[in-house]
Amino acid sequence: MTSDTVTITDNRSGESIELPIIEGTDGYPTIDIRALHRLLGFYTYDPGFMSTASCASAITFTDGEKGILRYRGYPIEQLAEHSSFLETAYLLIHGELPTSEQFGLFREEIMVEYNRLHEALQSFFDGFREDAHPMAILVGAVGALSSFYPDATNVHDPAVRMKAAKRLISKMPTIAAWSYKYATGQPIMYPRTDLDYTENFLYMMFAVPTDEFEINPLHVKALDLILMLHADHEQNASTSTVRLTGSSDANPFAAIAAGIASLWGPVHGGANEAVIRMLQEMSESGDIDSYIARAKDPHDRFRLVGFGHRIYKSYDPRAAIIRKTCHQLLEDLGATHTPLFDTALKLEEIALKDEYFIERKLYPNVDFYSGIILRAIGIPLEMYTVIFALARTVGWTCHWNEMMEDPESRIGRPRQLYVGYRKRDYVPIEQRGAQPAAEEGGR
Ligand code: CMC
Repeated sequence: MTSDTVTITDNRSGESIELPIIEGTDGYPTIDIRALHRLLGFYTYDPGFMSTASCASAITFTDGEKGILRYRGYPIEQLAEHSSFLETAYLLIHGELPTSEQFGLFREEIMVEYNRLHEALQSFFDGFREDAHPMAILVGAVGALSSFYPDATNVHDPAVRMKAAKRLISKMPTIAAWSYKYATGQPIMYPRTDLDYTENFLYMMFAVPTDEFEINPLHVKALDLILMLHADHEQNASTSTVRLTGSSDANPFAAIAAGIASLWGPVHGGANEAVIRMLQEMSESGDIDSYIARAKDPHDRFRLVGFGHRIYKSYDPRAAIIRKTCHQLLEDLGATHTPLFDTALKLEEIALKDEYFIERKLYPNVDFYSGIILRAIGIPLEMYTVIFALARTVGWTCHWNEMMEDPESRIGRPRQLYVGYRKRDYVPIEQRGAQPAAEEGGR
């Protein structure tokens, strides 16, 4: 906190107030507007929270102008080179990198102690239609965990919160893999305690009880990187949803289920799936130019999925890391000359040279490349966003925990700029003429 202030003057009355400027440890200074309404009678209008810090957080730092992403102060590039998803999860949860002993204990908790699902949960999976989207199953099954762990409702106990967070991180791969197995009619595979986190997930996804299963280390490495890069991203739509849901003291499983629902949308986590659908369509039609023209047409809602980011306006640092892995993996797997990858490369090239995209700073984002990698390692399309959810569960639980610990956090309750009718009196039905449609009604 500094002693600096900004002065806000209501030019209609001439009344002025001073509002404090808060300096974080990095990033833009922030005006503390909490007293604004009380002192001057104003709300602020900020659809999509373009200029609003909804909380103070010490977990992840991003600088969109410079293309920076740091977890607990560590640059994502360093973590991507030296760490693993599970170690990064420890870092995000506890704030520090673990010693070997701490990591061993954490691994034991995540991979052994909490990783089994209650057998009764299986009947939930049975209840879904067999063509259910795995994200629908994920929302339902994670929400259903609330009924298996009623102790988690004691959300003001830090030990209870930590246990719930570890349970979620530990069980998510099993729920995710089972959602796929049920949707495809295959027998489920139970988690293995001898495997690493990412290996175990791939095993539960692809192994079948009748056959030997060999895990491809290239797949494990690429997927582990994807999980790490998606583990947290400060106050995005799904994380803000988790915080808002949790702010009413809702239980953590319900709050995370709400986050999963928010993530599902194609302009958020659903983008990795939408990218491949778009590339498939483009490569079948062979006419990339018409898609580019549509993306640029202000009267067409079509957008190039996998391009642009609310925060990153120079480049997405996750995309820079994953781009290399994507090219390397496809080369290692001998898959560089598939029609889909060719289309992706052409699109990347055209968009990077086109004035429309350059002017608006629309670069390929992390989901452009992660979609291609997931496809190359054989993950079915419907599972892409599930994998994002699996990774982001770490970030969601960290933010939920941080919010519950923060003495300044309150139940989330944004205000609005009301633009509907002013007061009007009820008219009995027999006296009503034809009413204008609601959208034609005056203010
Ligand atoms: N294709 C074509 N035009 C675009 C695109 C795109 N992908 N993204 C933004 N624009 C245009 C937009 O039409 C607008 O043009 P104009 O100034 O002429 O009106 C301008 O760029 C600014 O767009 P915006 O909607 O104000 O930008 P935003 O920050 O609100 O949206 C975004 C960010 C990610 C929602 C958006 O870029 C988008 O829809 N991208 C495609 C979906 C996607 O890939 N999402 C994954 C994001 S990364 C994963 C995650 O963090 O969830």
